[in-house]
Amino acid sequence: MRNENSAFNCSAEPLLDLAALRADTPGCEAVIHFNNAGAGLMPRPVLGAMLDHLQLEAAVGGYEASAARAAEVDDFHTSLAELLGTRPGNIAFAASATHAYSKALSAIDFRPGDVILTTRNDFVSNQIAFLSLRKRHGVRVVHAPDRPDGSGVDVDAMAALMRAHRPRLVAVTHVPTNSGLVQPVAEVGRHCRELDLLYLVDACQSVGQYPVDVEEIGCDLLTATCRKFLRGPRGSGFLYVSDRALAAGYEPLHIDMHGARWVAPGRYRPVATAARFEEWEFPYATVLGCAAAVRYALRVGLEPIARRTPALAGRLRERLAAVPGVRTLDRGPAPAALVTFAIEGWEAEPFKAALDARGINSALSYREFAQFDFADKDVRWCLRLSPHYYNTEDEVDAVAGAVAELAGSAR
Ligand SMILES: Cc1ncc(COP(=O)(O)O)c(C=O)c1O
Repeated sequence: MRNENSAFNCSAEPLLDLAALRADTPGCEAVIHFNNAGAGLMPRPVLGAMLDHLQLEAAVGGYEASAARAAEVDDFHTSLAELLGTRPGNIAFAASATHAYSKALSAIDFRPGDVILTTRNDFVSNQIAFLSLRKRHGVRVVHAPDRPDGSGVDVDAMAALMRAHRPRLVAVTHVPTNSGLVQPVAEVGRHCRELDLLYLVDACQSVGQYPVDVEEIGCDLLTATCRKFLRGPRGSGFLYVSDRALAAGYEPLHIDMHGARWVAPGRYRPVATAARFEEWEFPYATVLGCAAAVRYALRVGLEPIARRTPALAGRLRERLAAVPGVRTLDRGPAPAALVTFAIEGWEAEPFKAALDARGINSALSYREFAQFDFADKDVRWCLRLSPHYYNTEDEVDAVAGAVAELAGSAR
């Protein structure tokens, strides 16, 4: 099943060999997959790594199979470290981005009155987690204002709030789920480093779509999944933990025998690396699939991916903006490959079903996913289309054509 070399153009010109990339992607034959912000289509090497491992587990036993594949399992940490500009010991596997985020939050000894400083566009589950911490620990949740044109958080205002509140945590989502907005995470990070504030970044929609470098961002903690723009399997995620945070002793509340050693009846010692945030049991086939996905992204190249993917989305956004009855909703100077729009005369589910019926994969976002953003934009729901580098211009035009046709027959 492995097809390691075919899809990559080896010349100096960083053009992607689309035909080979699509041949590597079985799903391309069946659908126009514009739901990469939900889950990207897995390429053959990812599928191959997972199926191989399940077969090995069935043949020799689960523990024996993981021992036989120890080097490939380690490559989960090594490949992600290469992707993010860090070391393998700073990476922990998690079952999802939210799982990684919860583990990170659980490491912070919140006291009543502590401030979490975040933005109006942080991911819904993160916002709910902050409110849950408010209910349980009496923390205060402060939202930094957006710039007046809605193009993302006002960094100067956020920095002023950092100085005023000395937050226990600063939390920013790089690209939210509900629009193509790209937040200035590195600018925020510079202020966090200057003021020595703990900084958590949700990079769930940006990892695999752009080069993401944890040193450049200046974060202490960063979370993402492998299933979206990295094109890995479902049920996977990871947490980056900086050396600073490890040295300061941050550890998850529910640490286990993988994350710590029980060194005396009344004492445990966390391991030195980010493995303290992992659990003893691993879904090994999934972990191997993730490693294959990260290697695949590295071989395609994050720079060419970052050139092509948002550009395809830009073409789509431009075509949709010209359709009467369609209002595109993405703000900011250079939006990511999440194209969101409202359409007159349709309810959410029938509209998505009409696209499904045309073989076009998409996703819906509702007000409850984005209380601030959707109130500002005055929408109850929107449709999200998220192409990736392996999609084609023809697919973009076909999707825009389908939306135009549906807009014309609104009901
Ligand atoms: C910005 C962002 N953060 C976090 C998540 C949660 O990821 P997971 O479903 O892996 O927990 C998502 C999922 O859509 C997301 O878009």
